[in-house]
This record gives sequence, C-alpha cells and structure tokens, in this order.
Amino acid sequence: MTYNKEKIKNAIPAEIAELRIYAETDSTNTEAKKYALSGGSAPSLFVADRQTAGRGRMGRSFYSPEGTGIYMSLLLPAHDSLADTLLMTSAAAVAVRRAIRAVTGRETDIKWVNDLYLGGRKVCGILCELIARENEKMIIVGVGINLSTADFPSDIADIAGSLGVSEVDARNALCAACATELYNVWKELPSADFIEEYKQYSMVLGKEIRYVENGKSYEGIAVDIDNRGRLYVKDKDESTHILASGEISVRVRN
Ligand code: BTN
Repeated sequence: MTYNKEKIKNAIPAEIAELRIYAETDSTNTEAKKYALSGGSAPSLFVADRQTAGRGRMGRSFYSPEGTGIYMSLLLPAHDSLADTLLMTSAAAVAVRRAIRAVTGRETDIKWVNDLYLGGRKVCGILCELIARENEKMIIVGVGINLSTADFPSDIADIAGSLGVSEVDARNALCAACATELYNVWKELPSADFIEEYKQYSMVLGKEIRYVENGKSYEGIAVDIDNRGRLYVKDKDESTHILASGEISVRVRN
C-alpha cells in the first residue's frame, strides 16, 4: 500500500467524513456508488492503489496499474438543479489542475470537457456520475492521474502520458489536494467563477477541432466556453454549434 491514510485524512476538509483506501478494487467510482446506495453519507472519499476495472468516459476503461497512479472518487451531495450539478464536470478539471500545480509544479492543459494534458499527452481523466437514492441525489467525481506509469497498453500508448512523479509523499499530498480542491470548487457552485481559469488553460480554444454529433462528423474552430461549460464551435459554414457534452478531437502534437 503506497498511501498513508493518516496523512491524507489530516490534509482534507473535516467534512469528508469517510475515507476508504483499497490496495485493489474494481473501480473507486463503483465503491463510492455501492457505499452511497447502501446508506453511506457524502462527502466521502475512496482511493485505490490499483483498479481491476477502472472506468472512463464513453464506456471506455481506464488503465489503472498498481502504485503508479492515483485512482480516487469523491462522493458529494448533488446540487438542487441538474445544470449546477453538471457544472461540476468542468469545475473538476480546474480543481484537479490546481492540485497538480500546487503539489508538483506541473502546468497542465485542459481538454474539453475534463481531460488534463501535459506536453501533449493525457495525464488525467475525470468521470462524473450522478446517482439517486430515494429523494436524494449525489455526484461521484472519479479522478485518475498517471503519476509515473510508463508502459501503456498499445491502444492508448500514443495519447497517454504521466506527470513524472514517483515520490510517495507527493502521492499522498496530491491525493489530499485533489480531494480538497474538488470539495472547495463544489462548495462554490453554482458560481461559475472558475470558468475564467478553465478558459485560461484550455488547450482547445482557438484550435481546429473535430466532433461527432448524431453519427455525423464535423470540423470547426473552438471559439468560446460559456458559464455552463458549453463549447462554442464555429463550423466551416460559419454557423455556430454549441456542444454541451460529448468528446472532441484536437491535434495536440505535430
Ligand atoms: C476518462 O478519461 O475517460 C475518465 C477516467 C476516470 C478514471 C477514474 S480512476 C478513479 C475513478 N474510478 C473509475 O473507475 N474511474 C475513475
């Protein structure tokens, strides 16, 4: 086990009452969901050294080998309106970016919606899931950070990268900082003040991007991101398309 429970516990907000650390689990998002659906309270934090079935966005898997990454999920009460809850998807990218910078000094770029890149390679993915229990809604913010993973499976070898951090202390500190920044940004919602920072570090604004909608592929220039985290794309025919969710492609390296 490469995490120190005491160190993490002492460095996160006292409101995060439950902290569970696993040497191995299928997915910390699944652990958080099981905990919530069996009556557990939020905020709570779930951290693993290794995931056997780490989940990513769009039904993909998230490569989660032992000891070389941080795999964590923060369970939070959802805001009353769905729009405010959905804003957490973009807010999470800013929060994790802040944590990475504070602990490692690395300046990551945000790829819409909430991937973090370093030197043109994806070093962090975030999966937000909404769950309902009786009349209560909760959000699970799952964060996977590649700290020192070197050998990626062939399907992601061209895209994935690592922060280049292997010290155990940095790992505990970064895990705690992510939980703290996520909690703080969540507390500020529905304020969209974080969007300016999101835009400042966006790696897609002003770039040519590609996206698929209703099975059709489009190309355009990403021109703006609004206070709901939606991406405005000027298509080739000069019309403006607003993307609320989904995935885009952008050329990140030459
Ligand atoms: C993506 O890049 O598509 C999102 C990846 C999210 C991975 C994290 S790792 C911790 C948490 N548990 C999961 O199963 N997924 C998230």
